[in-house]
Amino acid sequence: MLGNPLTWDDLPWLRSLTDLPLIAKGICHPDDARRAKDGGVDAIYCSNHGGRQANGGIPAIDCLPAVVDAADGLPVWFDSGIRSGTDIVKALALGADAVAIGRPYVYGLALGGVDGIVHVLRSLLAEADVTMAVDGYRSLKELTPEAMRRVT
Ligand SMILES: Cc1cc2nc3c(=O)[nH]c(=O)nc-3n(C[C@H](O)[C@H](O)[C@H](O)COP(=O)(O)O)c2cc1C
Repeated sequence: MLGNPLTWDDLPWLRSLTDLPLIAKGICHPDDARRAKDGGVDAIYCSNHGGRQANGGIPAIDCLPAVVDAADGLPVWFDSGIRSGTDIVKALALGADAVAIGRPYVYGLALGGVDGIVHVLRSLLAEADVTMAVDGYRSLKELTPEAMRRVT
């Protein structure tokens, strides 16, 4: 699995294979976001893959603002550690265009099959909706980095 990895040099070849949207996943550094953009990807997916193989690294959410900045208008998707509606709202406010989950839907699947997945997704959406409502954000457009304040 690790012996024959794709490298940045493979990106032009990959891009040449298809007109379908090409999304580079696992981008956490602004330089990589710029490189992927220069290589013709259609979107940047900021993610540390849930930190499963290399736990203890920089949280992906801390990398998001700089990646969004470097993406310079290219859509940015985000995952890693999203566990609640408030997590979704924070990622959106920091510039993500879409927010995804990995393990939570699998937990729902294990506990309740397809109904469990649906329950997880509905709960996340409801939490995000309530969070925006109680905090006074009427639309995603209003969710900007100014909605956030770092508490140390
Ligand atoms: C069992 C499992 C296998 C995964 N395999 C891959 C993979 O092959 N490639 C990849 O980019 N991410 C992989 N991921 C990471 C997910 O796509 C996703 O980025 C991550 O789970 C999101 O974080 P979260 O689980 O904290 O929500 C995997 C995750 C899990 C749980």
